[in-house]
Amino acid sequence: MSMPRIGLTGLAVMGQNLARNVARHGFPIAVHNRTTEKTREFVNDYGPGSEHNEPLVATESEADFVQAIAVPRTIVMMVKAGKPVDQVIENLIPHLSPGDLLIDGGNSLWTDTERRIKELNAKGFLFLGTGVSGGEEGALNGPSIMPGGPKEGYDRVSDILTAISAQVQGTPCCTFIGEGGAGHYVKTVHNGIEYADMQLIAEAYDLLKNAAGLTNKEIGDVFTEWNAGDLDSFLIEITARIFRTMDDLAGSDSGKEAGERTDAATSIEAAPGTRTPEAESSSPTPDHYLVDKVLDKAGQKGTGKWVSQSALDLGSPVTAITEAVFARFLSAQKTERVEAAKILAGPTGETFSGDKQTFINAVRDALYASKIVAYAQGFDQMKQAAKEWNYDLHFGELATIWRGGCIIRARFLDRIKDAYDEQPDLANLMLAPYFAEGLKDAQNPWRTVIAEAVRLGVPTPAFSSALAYYDGYRRERLPANLIQAQRDLFGAHTYERTDREGTFHSRWAE
Ligand code: 6PG
Repeated sequence: MSMPRIGLTGLAVMGQNLARNVARHGFPIAVHNRTTEKTREFVNDYGPGSEHNEPLVATESEADFVQAIAVPRTIVMMVKAGKPVDQVIENLIPHLSPGDLLIDGGNSLWTDTERRIKELNAKGFLFLGTGVSGGEEGALNGPSIMPGGPKEGYDRVSDILTAISAQVQGTPCCTFIGEGGAGHYVKTVHNGIEYADMQLIAEAYDLLKNAAGLTNKEIGDVFTEWNAGDLDSFLIEITARIFRTMDDLAGSDSGKEAGERTDAATSIEAAPGTRTPEAESSSPTPDHYLVDKVLDKAGQKGTGKWVSQSALDLGSPVTAITEAVFARFLSAQKTERVEAAKILAGPTGETFSGDKQTFINAVRDALYASKIVAYAQGFDQMKQAAKEWNYDLHFGELATIWRGGCIIRARFLDRIKDAYDEQPDLANLMLAPYFAEGLKDAQNPWRTVIAEAVRLGVPTPAFSSALAYYDGYRRERLPANLIQAQRDLFGAHTYERTDREGTFHSRWAE
């Protein structure tokens, strides 16, 4: 084995899988972890001499690690975002040589990345803030990779990054995103779209279950069918899988509270312990489905929130993404919701009475249209960010590298790529003929679904805000004239007129 030109520190699952991916592409890689036991175990399991025989080089101290890599070095850090990244950098610095390249492959805040690039540059090192999407599986078999920072750094490692990324029709899902924090910014917006997509799918599930009254088995079949059409995507595919997963603990803990059950599920998670409905000897009862036992409190690590915070700064109305973040917050208020459910009234005497299949199709259309809006909003935010911080973003390329490997990979990203290839300065994705047409076809069922949800009291914040955005964006005239008049009346904030240039202040009627 030749001396590695690359090393990776941080051997949690993502780090291990990414290191193996690099090694399996024929690039020897030095590996390091804070606890050396983990490094040893990992290299014993997958390194030279093991059944996998991958070119992994185990190292112990930071000094060993750095010395095991040929100069100029490339070091990938796969550690928790925030302070741990700074800590690892601080530990490595005394051992590095000028010109060495550090890559942060975590979900770091892009402003931290900008700071680190400057700090390391001042010390003679290169730093790339690199979004890596695709979860554990993607890290091992080909993620979508979004590197940002000095181009010189990217050029040094582009052969490895493009080789290990997912490939779609022979095109790697990795491209240089831009200088500064552009890579991590784009990854953050990717995650915002991921949040919106997941919330939209959850709302579709809620409607199928609590409006149309479908069983878990039927819901799973619906998602499987949707995955064969325009909605074809990783998130729809895994949703169908979730509705085929049975709970091995069903019946064994019936006396416990929901909170206790989550703990039990965590301890079981590591062991293979779920069955598919097909594997059931008797026909499954509804409470055998694992999804029903999962506590309805959505977690988050911050990237979705960062998208919304940045959108507020940039003035980009990413309503579907932000509603998805808020929906997770609301879900987390479980104890309050349990109490509120006993006090607050919903619609009385309203039941679903329409044709089920028509409604299912309408939910599909509403999901598709809302999804177009969520992507349109994410791309709008990136457009505003590019303007604000001079990021040289190429939207067609972003759509290209999101077609494979990442969590939001979807068939319609091909169409987004086409739209930006045809019109790189497209004002809004919804205006591309393919999507404008799709929205036109879906808008009536979309409205019907939301009206039905409102009638039955099923919350659809992302569906509804996406439609409101669509209706607002397509309106030549909004009621903002009245807001301007009010501002001028109470605060002399002035206003512009529709019929002449200039800024006006009026004495409004007493
Ligand atoms: C990806 C994902 C991943 C993210 C998780 C969890 O692209 O692979 O975006 O990076 O960490 O999806 O995010 P939350 O915990 O915030 O839901």
